[in-house]
Formats: sequence, structure tokens, C-alpha cells
Amino acid sequence: MDAFSYRCPTRIIFGVGQIVALSIEVPAAARILMVHGGGSIMRNGVYDQVQSALSRHQVVEFDGIRPNPEYEDCREALEVLKESSCDFILAVGGGSVLDAAKFIAAAACYDGEEPWDLIEDRNLVTEALPVGAVLTLPATGSEMNGNTVISRAAITQKRALCHPALYPVFSILDPATTTTLSPRQSANGIIDAFVHVCEQYVTYPAEAPLQDRQAEAILLTLIEEGPKVMADPENLTARANVMWAATNALNGLIGVGVPGDWASHQIGHELTALYGIDHAQSLAVAMPGVWEVCREAKQAKLAQYAWRVWGLHGLGSEVAARQAVARTEDFFRSLGVGTTLAEYDIPVEAADLVAQHLSQRGVVLGEHQSITPEVVAEILRLRA
Ligand code: NZQ
Ligand code: ZN
Repeated sequence: MDAFSYRCPTRIIFGVGQIVALSIEVPAAARILMVHGGGSIMRNGVYDQVQSALSRHQVVEFDGIRPNPEYEDCREALEVLKESSCDFILAVGGGSVLDAAKFIAAAACYDGEEPWDLIEDRNLVTEALPVGAVLTLPATGSEMNGNTVISRAAITQKRALCHPALYPVFSILDPATTTTLSPRQSANGIIDAFVHVCEQYVTYPAEAPLQDRQAEAILLTLIEEGPKVMADPENLTARANVMWAATNALNGLIGVGVPGDWASHQIGHELTALYGIDHAQSLAVAMPGVWEVCREAKQAKLAQYAWRVWGLHGLGSEVAARQAVARTEDFFRSLGVGTTLAEYDIPVEAADLVAQHLSQRGVVLGEHQSITPEVVAEILRLRA
């Protein structure tokens, strides 16, 4: 296992009815910019709960953050924040709203003209305003990590920024808020969390049995609880288990001391930037291809995953590794999510376009840095 340091400054408040905790979690003197999305919180009662918990606080609102949060929207929110001298940001919604809030928080402390600079060079991030979150969509792990992913349509880019200053100070996770998710968003969340675990687990053996077992526990939980959520959206027990699994999938803990392979995410971000498909849909397309092309390099972990997670004991490692790829794709499809480009009307030419985009930025991917843009094109051609 490699050396590591781990510190998570986010306080998690988990459980049905916990939104009331906002009244004490947000400092009384804070001037709050409350950021939210396209209206889901108005329809499911979350907005009212937040308003009631913050009835003694000063709150300014910014709504309309779109999925795959857009840079220009963040800039607009930044103007509102400055005009109203807000010093605390409260994100209420899914990962997009949380990510927008985090980016705005860092941008508010940046002196340069163009906050996109922070995406290009994370060293320019020095501090950020405090962000609190009420999460309504389990998927991204944004509630307990220092990541933000921002899209900029004008240059067809979707880029991640990771910095310790971006951890929320607290996140409230009430599983009851997730019962109004559409089947599409519920499935997306399960797949996103699943892929986050896979990208920290399906690499090569790193003599880290605890991290492996923790990763397997999250995958097994998603495989068991995910279908329950799909079958019965009101099943609060399953909703809670999926929510906590998704948080644990990307709060950094299973990734300490082990290699990561974020190729599926990087490829997925390009597909979303170019064709607008949902984040999880892009992953469901990309990851089976990454595994197919890198199957030999990943064979030991793919086989371990097949044996321990899918219960395919007794198979030799080569056959088990093949089965692992097939089982995973079947799982995604069982949740109703397409796994090929064609299912999203994306032409096979996407393979070269994505490769070209990555090549322009000099991006090379994979735990062995062996996934060059040419290999990315090969991966996507398999997904036609
Ligand atoms: O905008 P509103 O009206 O709120 O509706 C949203 C949105 O349309 C809706 N929704 C959210 N909670 C709901 C609900 N609808 C009904 N009931 C509820 N309780 O769901 C739609 C999608 O929301 P969004 O926030 O976009 O989804 P998600 O949480 O999957 O976030 C995706 C974004 O996060 C990024 C993705 O790339 C993408 O931009 N990621 C962020 C990461 C991070 N910060 O660590 C890591 C991930 O890998 C990912 O890249
Ligand atoms: Zn993701």
C-alpha cells in the first residue's frame, strides 16, 4: 500500500427529518446564498423545509443551476453573491447544485478576472467560502469530497477541479428527499456510485485488503439495494442504504493508498460535453469498453471482483475477468440504462472526436498511463 494522508472536514448529518439541523449548522450571523436547481425542491417539499429551518437567517437565493453545471450560470451566481455580500453558500439539490456551489465558493475568493483559471490551474485556489449542503440525489459523493465538475459550453469542455478547500463544512442527507427521483435519476445515481468504486478498485493488486473489502462492500450494497429502489421508489430503507453507499463511494476513503483509474470518467466527461448525455449514461457506455481493452492489465482485479462480488467462484481468472465485464454491463442494463453510443444517437465518429479533445490537452489515462487518445478511440469504437 502506498503512503497516504486522509482528512475529511465534512460533517455528515444523516437521516429522515434532519433538514431542521440547518438552523444550528449554519452560523446565525451568516449571509447565505442558497443555490438550487430547476425546481425539484419546490415540488417535493425540500424548499419549504429549508426555508422553515432558516427562518431566522438572512437568505438570498439563486436558482436555475442546470445538470452538468454551466460555468456562465456560476458566474451569474457569483455576481449575485458579491452584490449581496453573502459569506456562506448553501447548496440544496443534486451533485450539479453542490458542484456549482463549490466552484462559486472558490471563485468568490479569487482575484483574477476569469474564474475558469481555477479549473486550468488548481494551484490558484487558495481558499473558498464555506459551503453547506442539503443533498437530494445520491450519486456523486460531492457532499463529502473536495471535487467540483463544471461545464463550459462555449469551449465544449467539462472539467473537474479537486481541492481540499472545496469540502463542504456539513452535508445533510435525508433519504426521504430522494423518493421523488425519477427512475432515470435513481438509476443514474446507482451507476455513478458503482463506477466511482470500480475506478478505485479495478486496477491492479496493491496489497490493500481493507480497501478492497470496503470497495466490495459498497458494490454489493448497490447491487442488492439498487434494484429495491427501482422497484419501489418509496422504500426508505433501500433509499437510505443507496444514499450512504454513494457517499462512501467517493469520499476518498476506499481510494487511499491504492491506484486509481479515472479513464471512464474522463471519457464520459468528453461525451457529455460533446453530446449532452447524462453523466451516468456516459459512464455506462465508457467503462465496459475501458475494461475490455485493458482486460489483461486489469485481469487480477477483474477476476477478484468476479469471484467476490458476483460470486463466480470456480472460474479461472481469465474467464472470470471476461465474465466480470459482461455482468457489470448486464447490471447497468437491468437498471434501464443504455450502454452503447447508438442508444443515445451518438455516431461512432465520437470515438475520434473524444480522442482529439483529450489529445489537445495532452491527457493520458489509466493506472499505468497507458490509455492514450488512440486507445480511447479504440475503446469508444467498441461501444458503437
Ligand atoms: O435541477 P433540479 O430541478 O433540482 O432537478 C434535478 C436534475 O434535473 C433532479 N433532482 C435532483 N434531486 C431530485 C431531483 N428530482 C426529483 N427529486 C429529487 N430529490 O435530478 C436531475 C439531475 O441532477 P444532477 O444534480 O445533475 O445529478 P447528479 O447528482 O447526478 O450530478 C451530476 C453532476 O455531478 C458531476 C457530474 O459530472 C455531473 O455534472 N459529478 C460530480 C462529482 C463530484 N463532485 O465529486 C463526481 C462525479 O463523478 C460527477 O462527475
Ligand atoms: Zn461520477
